Amino acid sequence: MEEVEFIWMDGEFVKWKDATTHILTHSLHYGTAVFEGVRAYETPKGPAIFRLKDHTKRLLKSAKIMQMEVPNTYDEIFEACKQIVTKNNLKECYIRPLIYYGYGKMGLDTVNAKVNVSVAAWPWGAYLGEEGIKNGISVRMSSYKRHFVKEELAHSKTTGHYTISTIAKMEALNTGYEEAIMEDLEGNICECTGENLFIVKDSKLITPTTKSALVGITRDSVMKIAKDEGIEVSEETFDKETLYAADEAFMTGTAAEMTPIRKIDGKDIDDGKPGPITKKLREKYFDIIHGEDLKYEEWLDYC
Ligand SMILES: Cc1ncc(COP(=O)(O)O)c(C=O)c1O
Repeated sequence: MEEVEFIWMDGEFVKWKDATTHILTHSLHYGTAVFEGVRAYETPKGPAIFRLKDHTKRLLKSAKIMQMEVPNTYDEIFEACKQIVTKNNLKECYIRPLIYYGYGKMGLDTVNAKVNVSVAAWPWGAYLGEEGIKNGISVRMSSYKRHFVKEELAHSKTTGHYTISTIAKMEALNTGYEEAIMEDLEGNICECTGENLFIVKDSKLITPTTKSALVGITRDSVMKIAKDEGIEVSEETFDKETLYAADEAFMTGTAAEMTPIRKIDGKDIDDGKPGPITKKLREKYFDIIHGEDLKYEEWLDYC
């Protein structure tokens, strides 16, 4: 990982190497931290953070679900995200806000546990590779399931939830694939390890409901762009047979951006190349995040 100079911790900028925490930090033991993944892009008007308001809102919603008393306000966290980009002189970067239960409390309850907040940023290229964004990736159906006892838990980015994503991702990599798609316990397609999923069938864009998937901000952006382009969009429950038979498929996420899927379980999606709707939406999305399509400028928060 490429290091930069500063990380924001509890209201102060500290040197990257000094941004450490105690080994008995509560969240390190119990997976109780909440986080966001945000990206800043170079635009003609300088670096802009894509949908920072929505990311900050989702972060605080995740914290609420984890019953955290966050010591910083929405505005302070929002500003810290902008400042971490400028303080490190970054033009394009990934931003990682984290709220965690800190040092001084052990045991599963969090009564009187200290809550800490940090925001880091560093240059991070295409999560699934430039080649993946251009020509698509090969994915597998995971043998691991995505399951939450309550829908709201699927909507919080709590670190503990990511254990299954990590195991599923490693299963994919260890068996020669680049990503994994997960089903729920009933065999409905949910999402990927850190991305939402879309398919195209008969020119209609379809994405699984968010019953067991994160309410992705890229997902929301792509749905809005598609509707504006006159493409029919629907949230549906579907199984892997429908997925195998899709005309096109792609995944969305802040890290993965918009990455086409060319193969699932060794079988080509259509002719194994990104299809016309995927290509059209990908082009629009990249124009928007780079400030080249000002129709969606409200989604950009300039630093
Ligand atoms: C499990 C999961 N699904 C989907 C996404 C995509 O969400 P977003 O587009 O808001 O980054 C992410 C990434 O945040 C994720 O971790």
